[in-house]
Amino acid sequence: MSVLLPSVDTLSACCDRLVDGQLIGLPTETVYGLAADATNGRAIAAIFATKSRPNFNPLISHVVDLPMARQLGQFNAVAEKLAATFWPGPLTLVVPRTADCTVDRLACAGLDTIALRCPAHPVAQKLLQLVARPLAAPSANPSGRLSPSTAAHVADMLPDIDVLDGGAAVIGLESTIIGCFDAVPVLLRSGGIARTDIEACLGFALVDVPEGDDSEAKLAPGRLARHYAPKSGLLINVTEPHDGCLLLGFGPNAPPSVVANLSPSGDLAEAASQLFVQLHKYDAIALAENKRLAIMPIPQVGLGEAINDRLTRAAA
Ligand code: TXA
Ligand code: MG
Repeated sequence: MSVLLPSVDTLSACCDRLVDGQLIGLPTETVYGLAADATNGRAIAAIFATKSRPNFNPLISHVVDLPMARQLGQFNAVAEKLAATFWPGPLTLVVPRTADCTVDRLACAGLDTIALRCPAHPVAQKLLQLVARPLAAPSANPSGRLSPSTAAHVADMLPDIDVLDGGAAVIGLESTIIGCFDAVPVLLRSGGIARTDIEACLGFALVDVPEGDDSEAKLAPGRLARHYAPKSGLLINVTEPHDGCLLLGFGPNAPPSVVANLSPSGDLAEAASQLFVQLHKYDAIALAENKRLAIMPIPQVGLGEAINDRLTRAAA
Protein backbone atom coordinates (compact mmCIF):
# COMPACT_ATOMS: atom_id res chain seq x y z
CA MET A 1 0.00 0.00 0.00
CA SER A 2 0.93 3.61 -0.10
CA VAL A 3 -0.41 6.95 0.92
CA LEU A 4 -0.60 9.14 -2.18
CA LEU A 5 -0.43 12.93 -2.28
CA PRO A 6 -3.23 14.21 -4.51
CA SER A 7 -1.16 15.89 -7.24
CA VAL A 8 -2.63 16.36 -10.72
CA ASP A 9 -0.66 13.35 -11.99
CA THR A 10 -1.65 11.13 -9.08
CA LEU A 11 -5.34 12.04 -9.41
CA SER A 12 -5.20 11.23 -13.09
CA ALA A 13 -3.54 7.87 -12.34
CA CYS A 14 -6.20 7.11 -9.68
CA CYS A 15 -8.89 7.96 -12.20
CA ASP A 16 -7.41 5.45 -14.67
CA ARG A 17 -7.25 2.79 -11.97
CA LEU A 18 -10.86 3.34 -10.93
CA VAL A 19 -12.01 3.11 -14.55
CA ASP A 20 -9.97 -0.10 -14.73
CA GLY A 21 -11.98 -1.52 -11.82
CA GLN A 22 -9.44 -1.04 -9.02
CA LEU A 23 -10.11 0.32 -5.53
CA ILE A 24 -8.75 3.58 -4.11
CA GLY A 25 -8.91 4.99 -0.59
CA LEU A 26 -10.70 8.31 -0.94
CA PRO A 27 -10.77 11.25 1.48
CA THR A 28 -14.16 12.79 2.15
CA GLU A 29 -15.21 15.41 4.69
CA THR A 30 -16.98 12.73 6.79
CA VAL A 31 -14.66 9.70 6.85
CA TYR A 32 -12.33 8.06 4.31
CA GLY A 33 -14.09 5.87 1.74
CA LEU A 34 -13.04 2.73 -0.13
CA ALA A 35 -13.96 3.85 -3.63
CA ALA A 36 -14.72 1.91 -6.80
CA ASP A 37 -16.57 2.51 -10.05
CA ALA A 38 -20.20 2.02 -8.99
CA THR A 39 -21.18 0.78 -12.45
CA ASN A 40 -18.63 -2.08 -12.38
CA GLY A 41 -19.97 -5.20 -10.66
CA ARG A 42 -16.56 -6.79 -10.23
CA ALA A 43 -15.19 -3.66 -8.62
CA ILE A 44 -18.18 -3.58 -6.25
CA ALA A 45 -17.59 -7.22 -5.38
CA ALA A 46 -13.98 -6.33 -4.60
CA ILE A 47 -15.20 -3.71 -2.10
CA PHE A 48 -17.31 -6.29 -0.27
CA ALA A 49 -14.41 -8.75 -0.27
CA THR A 50 -11.84 -6.19 0.92
CA LYS A 51 -14.08 -5.07 3.78
CA SER A 52 -15.44 -8.57 4.54
CA ARG A 53 -18.78 -6.78 4.32
CA PRO A 54 -22.02 -8.79 4.38
CA ASN A 55 -23.48 -8.67 0.88
CA PHE A 56 -26.86 -7.53 2.12
CA ASN A 57 -25.44 -4.21 3.21
CA PRO A 58 -25.72 -1.74 0.32
CA LEU A 59 -23.19 0.98 -0.53
CA ILE A 60 -23.48 4.74 -1.01
CA SER A 61 -22.87 5.96 -4.57
CA HIS A 62 -21.01 9.26 -4.62
CA VAL A 63 -21.87 11.74 -7.37
CA VAL A 64 -20.23 14.91 -8.63
CA ASP A 65 -23.47 16.91 -8.58
CA LEU A 66 -27.27 16.82 -8.48
CA PRO A 67 -27.73 16.27 -12.25
CA MET A 68 -25.65 13.07 -12.02
CA ALA A 69 -27.69 12.02 -8.99
CA ARG A 70 -30.97 12.54 -10.86
CA GLN A 71 -29.83 10.11 -13.58
CA LEU A 72 -29.47 7.40 -10.94
CA GLY A 73 -32.28 8.08 -8.50
CA GLN A 74 -35.79 9.54 -8.49
CA PHE A 75 -35.82 12.76 -6.50
CA ASN A 76 -39.15 13.81 -5.03
CA ALA A 77 -39.72 17.36 -3.77
CA VAL A 78 -38.24 16.60 -0.34
CA ALA A 79 -35.12 15.00 -1.83
CA GLU A 80 -34.67 17.96 -4.19
CA LYS A 81 -34.93 20.41 -1.32
CA LEU A 82 -32.49 18.52 0.90
CA ALA A 83 -29.96 18.13 -1.93
CA ALA A 84 -30.24 21.81 -2.87
CA THR A 85 -29.63 22.80 0.75
CA PHE A 86 -27.00 20.33 1.96
CA TRP A 87 -25.02 19.21 -1.12
CA PRO A 88 -22.15 19.06 -1.48
CA GLY A 89 -21.87 17.83 2.10
CA PRO A 90 -22.42 15.09 4.70
CA LEU A 91 -25.95 14.09 3.63
CA THR A 92 -26.91 10.82 1.91
CA LEU A 93 -30.32 10.49 0.28
CA VAL A 94 -31.87 7.06 -0.29
CA VAL A 95 -34.33 7.28 -3.20
CA PRO A 96 -35.89 4.86 -5.70
CA ARG A 97 -33.52 3.85 -8.51
CA THR A 98 -34.33 5.24 -11.94
CA ALA A 99 -35.32 2.75 -14.64
CA ASP A 100 -32.00 3.26 -16.44
CA CYS A 101 -29.80 3.57 -13.35
CA THR A 102 -26.30 2.45 -14.30
CA VAL A 103 -25.16 1.66 -10.75
CA ASP A 104 -24.53 -2.04 -10.35
CA ARG A 105 -27.28 -3.98 -8.55
CA LEU A 106 -24.80 -5.40 -6.08
CA ALA A 107 -23.91 -1.88 -4.92
CA CYS A 108 -27.58 -1.51 -3.92
CA ALA A 109 -27.64 -5.07 -2.52
CA GLY A 110 -30.51 -5.87 -4.85
CA LEU A 111 -32.79 -3.16 -3.42
CA ASP A 112 -34.89 -0.93 -5.68
CA THR A 113 -33.50 2.07 -3.88
CA ILE A 114 -30.13 3.78 -4.12
CA ALA A 115 -28.12 5.79 -1.60
CA LEU A 116 -26.59 8.92 -3.15
CA ARG A 117 -24.20 11.50 -1.75
CA CYS A 118 -22.35 14.46 -3.23
CA PRO A 119 -19.24 14.90 -1.06
CA ALA A 120 -17.72 18.33 -0.40
CA HIS A 121 -14.07 17.31 0.00
CA PRO A 122 -12.06 18.92 -2.83
CA VAL A 123 -10.09 15.71 -3.55
CA ALA A 124 -13.30 13.66 -3.78
CA GLN A 125 -14.86 16.34 -5.99
CA LYS A 126 -11.82 16.43 -8.28
CA LEU A 127 -11.70 12.67 -8.66
CA LEU A 128 -15.46 12.46 -9.34
CA GLN A 129 -15.07 15.11 -12.05
CA LEU A 130 -12.23 13.17 -13.66
CA VAL A 131 -13.96 9.79 -13.46
CA ALA A 132 -17.30 11.27 -14.61
CA ARG A 133 -19.22 8.33 -13.20
CA PRO A 134 -20.57 7.44 -9.75
CA LEU A 135 -18.16 6.04 -7.18
CA ALA A 136 -19.40 3.54 -4.64
CA ALA A 137 -17.59 4.12 -1.37
CA PRO A 138 -18.30 2.62 2.02
CA SER A 139 -16.13 3.74 4.87
CA ALA A 140 -12.62 2.36 4.31
CA ASN A 141 -12.52 0.00 7.32
CA PRO A 142 -12.96 -3.74 7.62
CA SER A 143 -16.65 -4.40 8.32
CA GLY A 144 -17.54 -3.78 11.96
CA ARG A 145 -14.40 -1.83 12.81
CA LEU A 146 -13.91 1.87 13.47
CA SER A 147 -14.34 4.23 10.53
CA PRO A 148 -11.12 5.90 9.33
CA SER A 149 -10.74 9.66 9.60
CA THR A 150 -7.15 9.88 8.33
CA ALA A 151 -5.19 8.30 5.46
CA ALA A 152 -3.01 6.59 8.06
CA HIS A 153 -6.06 4.81 9.54
CA VAL A 154 -6.84 3.41 6.08
CA ALA A 155 -3.23 2.36 5.53
CA ASP A 156 -3.28 0.60 8.92
CA MET A 157 -6.55 -1.27 8.48
CA LEU A 158 -6.44 -1.99 4.72
CA PRO A 159 -2.72 -2.38 3.96
CA ASP A 160 -3.27 -3.48 0.35
CA ILE A 161 -5.14 -0.33 -0.62
CA ASP A 162 -3.57 2.85 -2.02
CA VAL A 163 -5.12 5.85 -0.33
CA LEU A 164 -5.19 9.49 -1.39
CA ASP A 165 -4.21 11.74 1.49
CA GLY A 166 -6.72 14.54 1.92
CA GLY A 167 -5.82 15.36 5.51
CA ALA A 168 -7.87 14.57 8.60
CA ALA A 169 -11.61 14.38 7.87
CA VAL A 170 -13.06 17.67 9.11
CA ILE A 171 -16.40 16.20 10.18
CA GLY A 172 -15.14 12.82 11.31
CA LEU A 173 -18.59 11.16 11.42
CA GLU A 174 -20.38 9.45 8.54
CA SER A 175 -23.08 11.26 6.61
CA THR A 176 -26.62 11.60 7.87
CA ILE A 177 -28.83 9.25 5.81
CA ILE A 178 -32.40 10.24 4.94
CA GLY A 179 -34.78 7.91 3.10
CA CYS A 180 -37.00 9.80 0.64
CA PHE A 181 -39.23 7.01 -0.58
CA ASP A 182 -42.53 8.83 -0.24
CA ALA A 183 -43.79 12.17 1.09
CA VAL A 184 -42.52 11.53 4.63
CA PRO A 185 -38.71 11.39 4.88
CA VAL A 186 -37.18 8.89 7.30
CA LEU A 187 -34.00 9.35 9.33
CA LEU A 188 -32.08 6.13 8.56
CA ARG A 189 -28.77 7.09 10.18
CA SER A 190 -27.85 10.13 12.21
CA GLY A 191 -24.58 11.66 11.10
CA GLY A 192 -22.65 14.77 10.11
CA ILE A 193 -25.70 17.02 9.75
CA ALA A 194 -27.78 17.37 12.89
CA ARG A 195 -31.43 16.35 12.76
CA THR A 196 -32.49 19.85 13.82
CA ASP A 197 -30.76 21.42 10.80
CA ILE A 198 -32.60 19.06 8.47
CA GLU A 199 -35.91 19.63 10.23
CA ALA A 200 -35.35 23.40 10.03
CA CYS A 201 -34.85 23.08 6.28
CA LEU A 202 -37.96 20.93 5.82
CA GLY A 203 -40.20 22.74 8.28
CA PHE A 204 -41.38 19.48 9.87
CA ALA A 205 -40.08 16.63 12.01
CA LEU A 206 -38.27 13.61 10.58
CA VAL A 207 -39.68 10.15 11.20
CA ASP A 208 -37.35 7.69 12.94
CA VAL A 209 -36.94 4.05 12.08
CA PRO A 210 -37.43 2.32 15.43
CA GLU A 211 -34.36 0.37 16.57
CA GLY A 212 -34.93 -3.36 16.34
CA ASP A 213 -37.83 -2.97 13.90
CA ASP A 214 -37.71 -5.79 11.34
CA SER A 215 -38.34 -3.48 8.45
CA GLU A 216 -35.32 -1.52 9.60
CA ALA A 217 -33.00 -4.25 8.41
CA LYS A 218 -34.32 -3.66 4.93
CA LEU A 219 -34.31 0.12 5.16
CA ALA A 220 -30.81 0.49 6.57
CA PRO A 221 -29.10 -2.85 6.79
CA GLY A 222 -25.93 -1.08 7.88
CA ARG A 223 -27.44 -0.32 11.24
CA LEU A 224 -26.13 -3.53 12.70
CA ALA A 225 -26.00 -3.41 16.46
CA ARG A 226 -22.29 -4.11 16.79
CA HIS A 227 -20.57 -1.68 14.52
CA TYR A 228 -17.70 0.76 14.78
CA ALA A 229 -16.29 -1.42 17.53
CA PRO A 230 -12.91 -0.85 19.17
CA LYS A 231 -11.06 -4.14 19.65
CA SER A 232 -10.41 -3.51 23.34
CA GLY A 233 -14.07 -3.07 24.28
CA LEU A 234 -15.85 0.12 25.24
CA LEU A 235 -17.86 1.27 28.24
CA ILE A 236 -20.10 4.29 27.74
CA ASN A 237 -21.52 6.94 30.09
CA VAL A 238 -18.65 6.50 32.50
CA THR A 239 -18.11 9.47 34.81
CA GLU A 240 -15.43 8.19 37.20
CA PRO A 241 -12.06 6.80 36.12
CA HIS A 242 -11.53 3.19 37.26
CA ASP A 243 -8.83 0.57 37.09
CA GLY A 244 -8.38 -1.31 33.85
CA CYS A 245 -9.96 1.47 31.78
CA LEU A 246 -8.64 4.32 29.68
CA LEU A 247 -11.23 7.08 30.06
CA LEU A 248 -11.97 9.49 27.21
CA GLY A 249 -13.42 12.74 28.43
CA PHE A 250 -15.86 15.31 27.18
CA GLY A 251 -16.42 18.85 28.35
CA PRO A 252 -15.01 21.14 31.01
CA ASN A 253 -15.89 18.86 33.93
CA ALA A 254 -13.77 15.90 32.82
CA PRO A 255 -11.61 14.53 35.64
CA PRO A 256 -7.87 15.17 35.26
CA SER A 257 -7.20 11.45 34.80
CA VAL A 258 -8.83 11.27 31.34
CA VAL A 259 -6.38 10.15 28.65
CA ALA A 260 -7.88 12.62 26.16
CA ASN A 261 -10.78 15.04 26.01
CA LEU A 262 -12.92 15.01 22.84
CA SER A 263 -13.72 18.66 23.46
CA PRO A 264 -12.58 20.42 26.63
CA SER A 265 -15.03 23.25 25.90
CA GLY A 266 -17.94 20.84 25.34
CA ASP A 267 -18.26 21.60 21.59
CA LEU A 268 -20.08 18.69 19.92
CA ALA A 269 -18.71 19.41 16.43
CA GLU A 270 -15.18 19.24 17.81
CA ALA A 271 -16.06 16.03 19.68
CA ALA A 272 -17.47 14.51 16.48
CA SER A 273 -14.31 15.27 14.55
CA GLN A 274 -12.19 13.78 17.35
CA LEU A 275 -14.31 10.69 18.00
CA PHE A 276 -12.81 8.14 15.63
CA VAL A 277 -9.33 9.68 15.86
CA GLN A 278 -9.22 9.19 19.63
CA LEU A 279 -10.97 5.81 19.59
CA HIS A 280 -8.40 4.52 17.09
CA LYS A 281 -5.50 5.91 19.06
CA TYR A 282 -6.55 4.71 22.50
CA ASP A 283 -7.93 1.39 21.27
CA ALA A 284 -4.38 0.50 20.22
CA ILE A 285 -2.98 1.66 23.57
CA ALA A 286 -5.70 -0.13 25.55
CA LEU A 287 -5.01 -3.38 23.66
CA ALA A 288 -1.30 -3.10 24.35
CA GLU A 289 -1.94 -2.43 28.04
CA ASN A 290 -4.68 -5.08 28.32
CA LYS A 291 -7.23 -2.44 29.30
CA ARG A 292 -10.62 -1.36 28.06
CA LEU A 293 -11.80 1.97 26.74
CA ALA A 294 -14.40 4.04 28.56
CA ILE A 295 -16.00 7.32 27.61
CA MET A 296 -17.88 9.98 29.50
CA PRO A 297 -21.52 10.80 28.69
CA ILE A 298 -22.13 12.92 25.60
CA PRO A 299 -25.25 15.13 25.63
CA GLN A 300 -27.98 13.85 23.30
CA VAL A 301 -28.43 17.15 21.42
CA GLY A 302 -27.30 18.32 17.98
CA LEU A 303 -24.41 16.17 16.74
CA GLY A 304 -24.49 14.39 20.11
CA GLU A 305 -27.24 12.17 18.70
CA ALA A 306 -24.92 10.81 16.00
CA ILE A 307 -21.99 10.50 18.41
CA ASN A 308 -24.11 8.51 20.87
CA ASP A 309 -25.44 6.34 18.04
CA ARG A 310 -21.84 5.36 17.15
CA LEU A 311 -20.88 4.89 20.80
CA THR A 312 -23.88 2.69 21.58
CA ARG A 313 -23.07 0.43 18.63
CA ALA A 314 -19.38 0.42 19.53
CA ALA A 315 -20.24 -0.70 23.07
CA ALA A 316 -22.80 -3.35 22.01
O1 TXA B 1 -20.06 9.58 5.22
C1 TXA B 1 -20.37 8.52 4.65
O2 TXA B 1 -21.53 8.23 4.39
C2 TXA B 1 -19.21 7.59 4.26
C3 TXA B 1 -18.34 8.30 3.22
C4 TXA B 1 -17.25 7.42 2.69
O3 TXA B 1 -19.15 8.80 2.18
N1 TXA B 1 -19.70 6.35 3.76
C5 TXA B 1 -20.30 5.44 4.55
O4 TXA B 1 -20.65 4.27 3.91
O5 TXA B 1 -20.53 5.63 5.72
P1 TXA B 1 -21.04 2.94 4.67
O6 TXA B 1 -21.06 1.91 3.62
O7 TXA B 1 -20.15 2.71 5.82
O8 TXA B 1 -22.51 3.20 5.14
C6 TXA B 1 -23.53 3.22 4.16
C7 TXA B 1 -24.86 3.10 4.83
C8 TXA B 1 -25.10 1.70 5.35
O9 TXA B 1 -25.65 1.80 6.64
C9 TXA B 1 -26.13 1.14 4.37
O10 TXA B 1 -26.96 0.22 4.97
C10 TXA B 1 -26.87 2.39 3.97
O11 TXA B 1 -25.87 3.37 3.87
N2 TXA B 1 -27.50 2.24 2.66
C11 TXA B 1 -26.90 2.20 1.47
N3 TXA B 1 -27.80 2.00 0.47
C12 TXA B 1 -28.99 1.92 1.05
C13 TXA B 1 -30.31 1.71 0.58
N4 TXA B 1 -30.59 1.54 -0.70
N5 TXA B 1 -31.30 1.68 1.50
C14 TXA B 1 -31.05 1.86 2.80
N6 TXA B 1 -29.81 2.06 3.30
C15 TXA B 1 -28.80 2.08 2.46
MG1 MG C 1 -19.16 2.16 7.59
